[in-house]
Amino acid sequence: MSTDTVLILDDDPDVGTAARLLLQRRVGDVRVLQRPAELAAALDALSPSVLLLDMNFAPGQTGGEQGLALLRQAVARADAPAVVAMTAYAEVDLAVQALKLGAFDFVTKPWNNARLVAIVQAAAASRRPAVPATPRASALLGESAPMRQLRRLVANVAPTEANVLVLGEMGVGKELVAQELHAQSMRAAKTFLPVDLGALPETTFESELFGHRRGSFTDARADRAGRFQTAHGGTLFLDEVGNLPLAHQGKLLTVLERREVTPLGADRGEPVDVRIVSATNLDERRLFDPACFRADLLYRLNTIVLRVPPLRERRADILPLAHHYLAHYAAQYGRHARPLSAAAVQALQDDDWHGNVRALRHACERAVILGGQSRLDVADFRLGAAPTASPPAATAGSPAASGHRLEDVEREAVAEAMRAAQGNVSEAARRLGVSRAALYRRLDKHGL
Ligand SMILES: Nc1ncnc2c1ncn2[C@@H]1O[C@H](COP(=O)(O)OP(=O)(O)OP(=O)(O)O)[C@@H](O)[C@H]1O
Ligand SMILES: [Mg+2]
Repeated sequence: MSTDTVLILDDDPDVGTAARLLLQRRVGDVRVLQRPAELAAALDALSPSVLLLDMNFAPGQTGGEQGLALLRQAVARADAPAVVAMTAYAEVDLAVQALKLGAFDFVTKPWNNARLVAIVQAAAASRRPAVPATPRASALLGESAPMRQLRRLVANVAPTEANVLVLGEMGVGKELVAQELHAQSMRAAKTFLPVDLGALPETTFESELFGHRRGSFTDARADRAGRFQTAHGGTLFLDEVGNLPLAHQGKLLTVLERREVTPLGADRGEPVDVRIVSATNLDERRLFDPACFRADLLYRLNTIVLRVPPLRERRADILPLAHHYLAHYAAQYGRHARPLSAAAVQALQDDDWHGNVRALRHACERAVILGGQSRLDVADFRLGAAPTASPPAATAGSPAASGHRLEDVEREAVAEAMRAAQGNVSEAARRLGVSRAALYRRLDKHGL
């Protein structure tokens, strides 16, 4: 069954119910509205692929003016649904007007069940992108056994609706796996929305994720959809889920259990249909420690667990990835491709790649920019900045007075912050007062 969303707008509740019962077994998600005034908000929140639209709403009205006005509104949207117009009065003129205004089709009430289903299915299909002839290549490169296994798992899991938890060290490719799961899923045409839970300020956590109503707090000057609503019909990627404070874990759990969100200041929940893919580089022991992470939330997130092994455990991937990124950056910077020296091949192969594929990618970018004319050598990759003799001791006196190089001081500060944050990048970045991206660059620069 597809994951299309069909929205029905009809002032007669019986009609809405009858259509919903008929369609929901055949076209996926069906929502019913009775009041035309709610249409705009529902289109915003649901982005349905089909709108089944009654033409007359006020008692005694038969001309269809109100329906035509709503039709104009709907088809004018950037994410316009396919509109199927309905009326109890088989007036040909009205049908022609509706089709001229962009309706996909027209049905009269009482409808023929099979015909209505077929029209709605065709309308939904008209909104789906054409399926590409050739199967798309996975963006997850690597011919090592673990990578081939991971690609197979992704291909099996993607078309299901199961929530997936992706585990692995920083830079191994967790976000890329999440993107692949979405791209190979039935939701591929819909939104893939990453949210870095580690970077969400505590104060705006709920408003960011669940949205808010105008006036629900000082700065809430307008209604705002949360990430859940924005990702409706698609995939919500909850990154750094391991950093979610316990207090917020309960709120997230409620939404996952009820499949509805209540924006701040709203008096009732809104159903949401999102597939959850989450990721963390948190050590699994801590993930299974209830003092760190709620078991009931974990249970909701880890229907399927995918582990991405560190690069040093799949060394067969190092050279193919290096060649891929050297070619990528040569093209990006307009440089000609240069062969690697034997020493460079060995050095790439032997490095421990603490930052995994991200670090390899950055090293390749450096080599393309800084490398010699005829070939690329070890030094061009700047693998792990030359370690100082001994790390500077944390003396009370200022580092400068003790003659330590700024490089070393920075390296020590970064290493110290990573130790204190137990490898948690967002936490270490917060402690250092820099963004995650800035910290990545320094981790890279110092080969940490
Ligand atoms: N198998 C792969 N093939 C090609 N590129 C890859 C692969 N794995 C990772 N990359 C690239 O390496 C970089 C890091 O990957 P990604 O951002 O997915 O890592 P991550 O596990 O989410 O890291 P972090 O824990 O730091 O957030 C990205 O630029 C990504 O495109
Ligand atoms: Mg990531």
